[in-house]
Amino acid sequence: MIRVDNLTKTFAAPGGGEVHALAGVSLWIDRGEFVAVVGRSGSGKSTLLFAMGGLATPTAGHVQLGETRVYDLDREARAALRRTEVGFVFQTFNLVPYLTCLENVALPALLAGSSRGEATDAAARVLERLGMSARSRHRPAQLSVGERQRVGIGRALVNGPRVLLADEPTGNLDPATADQVVDLLRELNGEGQTIVMVTHDLRLAARAGRIVRLRSGALDTDPPERVTA
Ligand SMILES: Nc1ncnc2c1ncn2[C@@H]1O[C@H](COP(=O)(O)OP(=O)(O)OP(=O)(O)O)[C@@H](O)[C@H]1O
Ligand SMILES: [Mg+2]
Repeated sequence: MIRVDNLTKTFAAPGGGEVHALAGVSLWIDRGEFVAVVGRSGSGKSTLLFAMGGLATPTAGHVQLGETRVYDLDREARAALRRTEVGFVFQTFNLVPYLTCLENVALPALLAGSSRGEATDAAARVLERLGMSARSRHRPAQLSVGERQRVGIGRALVNGPRVLLADEPTGNLDPATADQVVDLLRELNGEGQTIVMVTHDLRLAARAGRIVRLRSGALDTDPPERVTA
């Protein structure tokens, strides 16, 4: 369903030289998978996730989402694809502070062309699914951090994306709340949602269906390093 072929992303380093954030990554993700991407800081996890979601044009290689080669599309078509086929979840939630939960979740539906009524209905359904209906009229500052991330996930889901791409979605949460967010992701995955989650936390990664490890911008196929408690 997502096919990453020999993906390379090279940045010009400030002051000269190059950074090979991705150095030829090939990866297939099937519909309905829950994949965790792990690796050290700087190993290319975010770059891979953003490239998969159409947010970072690769230096070489391809990303295919369903039947579509994402970077063969022009900017506008790619933006449209991002709005409807991909849902991003961020470590820092990135909610709009002056909008309510309902409005935050409705926003991507509005941007994708839904009427106000349709967007509001869709957002209400998603908040219901996430157990957040009672918080619909709260603004982000009036929520716990775990609730904020639920809203972040709701916003990512509202347009029914093919894939949820989450970059350290639990990075700002305490361990118990992080577990609850991963519980939720597992439930959504159980309902058929394809998910790719970047995380530093090997314990949480182990709760995904598959772990992909990056090392210096390449897939690391060596046996996992031993984790000592
Ligand atoms: N815009 C940029 N310009 C130059 N170098 C960049 C840029 N973005 C990322 N890099 C470099 O590319 C490499 C991979 O970055 P990336 O953000 O993908 O790592 P990461 O695995 O997500 O790390 P972290 O766990 O710290 O979030 C890093 O060495 C980073 O410094
Ligand atoms: Mg990162």
